[in-house]
Amino acid sequence: MQHTQSFRNHFSTLAGLLLAVLGAATTRLPAQTLDADTAGAVTNAPPAIPVLQVKADQVTAQVSPMLYGLMTEEINFSYEGGLYGELVRNRTFKANATNAVYWETVGGAAISLDTNQPLNSALNVSLKLDTSGASKDSPAGIANGGYWGIAIRPNTTYHASFYAKGEHFDGPLTISLLHVDTNHPALTYHTNDGSVTKGLEAGSTMPGVSATVPKISGEWRKYEVTLTTGDVQPSKDNQLVISTTKPGTFFNHHGTVWFQQVSLFPPTYNNRPNGNRPDIMQLLADMQPKFLRLPGGNYLEGDYINERFDWKKTIGDISQRPGHRSPWNYWSTDGFGLMEYLNWCEDLHMEPLLAVFAGYALRHDYVKPGPDLQPYVQDALDEIEYITGDTNTTWGAARARDGHPAPFPLHYVEVGNEDWFDRSGTYDGRFAQFYDAIKAKYPQLQIISTIGNDRPASERVQSRTPDLGDEHYYLTQERMEAQSHMYDTRSRTNQTKIFVGEWATRVGRPTPNMAGALGDAAWMCNMERNSDIVLLESYAPLFVNVSDLGRGGSMQWPSDLIGYDALTSYGSPSYYAQVMFSTHHGDNVLATDSQDVPTYSYQPPQRTRNGVPQGGPPAPQQVPSVFYDATRDSQSGTIYLKVVNRQSAAQPVHVQISGVSAVEAQGTATVLKADKPDDTNSIDEPKNIVPVTETVDGLGTDFTREFPAYSITILELKAK
Ligand code: AHR
Repeated sequence: MQHTQSFRNHFSTLAGLLLAVLGAATTRLPAQTLDADTAGAVTNAPPAIPVLQVKADQVTAQVSPMLYGLMTEEINFSYEGGLYGELVRNRTFKANATNAVYWETVGGAAISLDTNQPLNSALNVSLKLDTSGASKDSPAGIANGGYWGIAIRPNTTYHASFYAKGEHFDGPLTISLLHVDTNHPALTYHTNDGSVTKGLEAGSTMPGVSATVPKISGEWRKYEVTLTTGDVQPSKDNQLVISTTKPGTFFNHHGTVWFQQVSLFPPTYNNRPNGNRPDIMQLLADMQPKFLRLPGGNYLEGDYINERFDWKKTIGDISQRPGHRSPWNYWSTDGFGLMEYLNWCEDLHMEPLLAVFAGYALRHDYVKPGPDLQPYVQDALDEIEYITGDTNTTWGAARARDGHPAPFPLHYVEVGNEDWFDRSGTYDGRFAQFYDAIKAKYPQLQIISTIGNDRPASERVQSRTPDLGDEHYYLTQERMEAQSHMYDTRSRTNQTKIFVGEWATRVGRPTPNMAGALGDAAWMCNMERNSDIVLLESYAPLFVNVSDLGRGGSMQWPSDLIGYDALTSYGSPSYYAQVMFSTHHGDNVLATDSQDVPTYSYQPPQRTRNGVPQGGPPAPQQVPSVFYDATRDSQSGTIYLKVVNRQSAAQPVHVQISGVSAVEAQGTATVLKADKPDDTNSIDEPKNIVPVTETVDGLGTDFTREFPAYSITILELKAK
């Protein structure tokens, strides 16, 4: 049966529906309640002020030192058109088998794909340019507009490179970065369909910069130039143009030049060659993540087995990487390969959490456990060796050749992705084969099953005890809040711990709004409060290119943490909630209790199977409107009290702290808030909603504080 994305519209697990029971375990519900849609409207007598107790002498858990991480894959133009610095789209001409998509011609020159002049077996096609029409007044060439634009900044050096070979043409070629201005007299750049498009005249005084390659060989060679801009305005309306004014034609023979791997890089984070966009890296650095789950997600699996993330084809010289089609329906050059993931980890001081391909692809291709699976198991062992092995091992030596002699840290390996979709019933056997082989060689590694304890026991791995199980939750705000006490009552004796490897409150597109951030914060309180069993968590998806939100455009999956176009980037309110949680917590979880927490009424959706309702409508639930958790730094004594108010009115809360001799009256409050739940950040208003930290007074062991409407607050209390 065909797998489609609709199968992966996650609905909450049954556990989410248990809120009423679970919530009652930790909160006493008030006499009056508020409706979800009119939260804040008092329906009865004035409500009691909720009381929140923090028991500083009762440590219920250690905060997992690895709790806050990142999950990543090539989706929504995450790397190519996102984090990866490359500015040229379809640089290897393999995005489409018949057309040179994303390339335009300059001066009406003819261009075509040519499989008879491959650069090598990996890049087995080239772009052929007929230069015969070139003249001083009308250059012939090729132009690329990047991923919805090419960002150009003032006084900045760009590194352009390409492979080329000529026939009856030996140069020169001019490489230019040109501003595209619709108001400027256009040079006759022609698109593939013959229509005239915008561009600049050679020698124009408009912002632009050029360099020349004087001679082109008759054999494939790599050419490199640097282009340094002057005092130009930052803009994304630019093209990379490679052109010539020399036709090169000899009698009846047309001048021809073939191109491959045409690349343009701006300065990158930490100046890494083949590196990453600094602005997006800085947003991530500010999250202080501890791990990176890579390389997916669906991207690990591929639609078919031969479209999986085949890591050995993603390492080494980028001109030897064939690239592959991603399950998110666009081409990946694999310029962003395994080593690039690892360098990303190193730059942000996080460690990889490696997901290995486990013999199952999205459209239900699978490999039977046993001898057929063995090559894939060996591939995983090789991959682990590439990451962690000594340089005297085969794959450790390969890593050293690729520029990184030192091994990378690695503690967690996940076997596959979302294998509950596998109807063949082979996951238990496949997992066992990987588990045994990995544990035999690397007993120190923690092995993660993709089927967590949230799934029915019949789906889970039975033959081995996974160290962790990966649970995924993509939910509405109400459902996220409804399960915000879910882990309070999870088994403490189960040896399989929890990795919440993908989750998001999916409200807002392309990036979540404040309602999303509130649902996220309620859920993060739940995970942090229970991080004796929830060892790792990562929001997903991480990135979205917001340039073209239409069908077939730059977004395949809405509600993503960080948005960007070719020029700038921004964090959503959910991003700032993540930053707040990950950078403000202690190492001890403190016992908490509460009374009179306001609630709202939530009607869970009807359960359906194949569109058919199952049973009667579920009973409405009372869901808390205020969420909290408390941690303490055992060294400094600071208590971090997180309080989330999802209501439309400010909420006073009476806080009582026991188990300490004193709490200073002055502390700090870091607050993320909005006027409306659908308030958000965007590419045009990137900082509409950001956390504000201020010094506050009136704290102590017993105080009442008002928490603003639609807010997430972290109080730092100096306790002795
Ligand atoms: O995060 C988007 C997708 O959701 C992931 O690729 C997949 O694992 C899940 O279905």
